[in-house]
Amino acid sequence: MAQSYPVMMRSHSLLVLLVLLVSSLAATASTAGENAGGSDPTPSPWPLQFHAVLFMNYSGALSLIDLWYDWPRGRNFNIIRDQLDGPPVYDLEWNNGTSFVYTLDSPLSCRSVQLEVGILRPNWLDGATYLGQKTVDGFLCNVWTKVDFIWYYEDVVTKRPVQWVFYTGRTAHVMVYEEGAVLEDANWQAPEYCFQKGKKEQPEYRSIVSEIADLKRASRVLRGL
Ligand SMILES: *[C@@H]1O[C@H](CO)[C@@H](O)[C@H](O)[C@H]1NC(C)=O
Ligand SMILES: *[C@@H]1O[C@H](CO)[C@@H](O)[C@H](O)[C@H]1NC(C)=O
Repeated sequence: MAQSYPVMMRSHSLLVLLVLLVSSLAATASTAGENAGGSDPTPSPWPLQFHAVLFMNYSGALSLIDLWYDWPRGRNFNIIRDQLDGPPVYDLEWNNGTSFVYTLDSPLSCRSVQLEVGILRPNWLDGATYLGQKTVDGFLCNVWTKVDFIWYYEDVVTKRPVQWVFYTGRTAHVMVYEEGAVLEDANWQAPEYCFQKGKKEQPEYRSIVSEIADLKRASRVLRGL
């Protein structure tokens, strides 16, 4: 007993040394490929137009978002479906800060939201802090954070976004990513009841409302920098 103690101590510190050595080697190895130029990798700007299908998870509450980003036309669409719960909710955002949040199925509803900022710029990830590499959803990714508000995971090889996580824990897994895809103009028309005054139909889609509040906060923080 008396003798095994110092031996254990020694093997312990040896182990610590080994771990340190291996992790510093790993750090060198993982930066060597990307960092040939000596600077951290930077996230790819968003394509000017794309369609993505996002599988969202907020503490186990699941939803699906069709995202249509259209920078040249100054508009962004989130079509949100909660799992097995009601009709989709359409969140149509214009670059002048106006959003229309509506349903197209019964119960019909619409409300508009006015933000002081427009949609995200294609280069909204500029200035993000590089955090290294991590495998998420089975893809080896470069990871960045922007103002400790969002963590963004981009495939090292294809440069496509794989996942992003808001500071709330709300996570978007990118299931489909179609660069250059454009939604036809007719789909960007908010329904007429968005423009009728005095109508106050307002069904409660609790998680979608919180989802939209999160998206609005995101545009405010990430765009308003
Ligand atoms: C959703 O996220 C929670 C953690 O917040 C996790 O436990 C759960 O497995 C996730 N569900 C799916 C379907 O990914
Ligand atoms: C912003 O643009 C949309 C689409 O053209 C329009 O419906 C809305 O009224 C505009 N909002 C403001 C504040 O001008």
